[in-house]
Amino acid sequence: MVVYQVYPRSFQDSDGDGVGDLGGVRARLDHLVWLGVDALWLSPIYPSPLADFGYDISDYTDVDPTFGDLAELEALARDAHDRGLRLLMDLVPCHTSIEHPWFREHPDWYIWADEPNNWVSAFGGSAWAPYDGRFYLHSFYPEQPDLDWRNPEVVAAMQDVLRFWLERGADGYRVDAIDRLLKDPDLRDDPPATAPYGLPLTPEQAKLALTNSANAPDTAEALAKIREAVGDAFLVGEVYLPSVRWQPYVDYFDAVFAFELLFAPWDAAVLRAAIEACSRQKRPAWVMSNHDFGRLATRFGPENTRAAAMLLLTLPGPAFLYQGDEIGQGDDTSGESRFDRHGRDRFRHPMQWDASPTGGFTIGHPWLPPVDPAERNVDAQRDDPGSTLTFVRRLIAMRKDLSDDFELLDAADGVVAYRRGTDAVAVNTTSEPRPAPLRGEPRLETAPGAWRGDLLAPHAGAIAGG
Ligand code: GLC
Repeated sequence: MVVYQVYPRSFQDSDGDGVGDLGGVRARLDHLVWLGVDALWLSPIYPSPLADFGYDISDYTDVDPTFGDLAELEALARDAHDRGLRLLMDLVPCHTSIEHPWFREHPDWYIWADEPNNWVSAFGGSAWAPYDGRFYLHSFYPEQPDLDWRNPEVVAAMQDVLRFWLERGADGYRVDAIDRLLKDPDLRDDPPATAPYGLPLTPEQAKLALTNSANAPDTAEALAKIREAVGDAFLVGEVYLPSVRWQPYVDYFDAVFAFELLFAPWDAAVLRAAIEACSRQKRPAWVMSNHDFGRLATRFGPENTRAAAMLLLTLPGPAFLYQGDEIGQGDDTSGESRFDRHGRDRFRHPMQWDASPTGGFTIGHPWLPPVDPAERNVDAQRDDPGSTLTFVRRLIAMRKDLSDDFELLDAADGVVAYRRGTDAVAVNTTSEPRPAPLRGEPRLETAPGAWRGDLLAPHAGAIAGG
């Protein structure tokens, strides 16, 4: 399936306060139906003091008034189902907001130490903050204390949360930062790193092996509790580990984000190696962009956006498309991050629906300005047969015809190619024409004539077969 990531603050505002909301998502569901995706993933919509823009939750079983209320969420689930779309919520099980009542009412639900060890936070600095004469653990911002998943009360409370949203119409969850669920119970220091981690880290993190501060050996027991609560609902895990370390996450989840692909530079050899490594494991969820790392057009260059979308959407298994990628929207380049201290505002500017100054996102003052609605927007691209939007829509339609039979093909330097049954896909990551191992008739090209006389044009991709 194709899952479309909605970043609710920036998708569509329906009440003019300049912040997107559930009413806005409902109003735009037909865009997702028209695009042909199967599901949407809603980044967090729960009450939050916004230290981490919703990933610091102060109430797991309510909707932040900025976004609407529970009735609106249930209406969204119904509207989605009526249109054949599934709804995935974002579950943040590893930490709450420091303002969650649990932190004061149940301090023993969190992880405490008399003295900090050497663990570092993903956002920099020590992972420990002082409170009441002791220190609590925060794998992310200090406003996000880590829960203790070895405490059965925490597990029970989180199982209630998992059931809560399924009962209100959700079909599954994207599970946040799940490799941080369990840490060493004795809080031993992380040993120094002896080998590269396999995914980008901060310089501080890269010095450590991160074997005690995350991914503890008994993680499977906690994952089993998550699975137990949701039955056969869909679970995709944000596991920040290279694919060789996807056990035990793939045993309990339906899919795990393939971060090696997300972080691969636009270089055929590296992309191929990432695809090979991830598809050797069970259940990769293909992803190349999101609210933390930015959009296709900026990550790979506007000239490569269509080829990147082709790669993302023709690999076997679920693919995750971030809002705006379907029109080749880029990140903000002003260098300003007024809201997120980790500098991620630039990946979160509003969706561009039309050419007006607010991009049709709001009738009010947008919380972040749209980047370039006059140059790129859904309205202008919808009826243009040569647009990125039309191309992505055709890709999503075509993907349903592709066989499950998948094999990476040998190809010239600079070309990633694979077979899907009797069809083949090839993408040229270079700025020179390159030979491509394609046969038959072109079924879809990134631009007309992209594949001609055995050569793929620079930055081009094609699907051929028959
Ligand atoms: C995940 C989210 C990110 C958040 C972090 C901490 O990586 O995608 O936005 O900051 O978890 O919850």
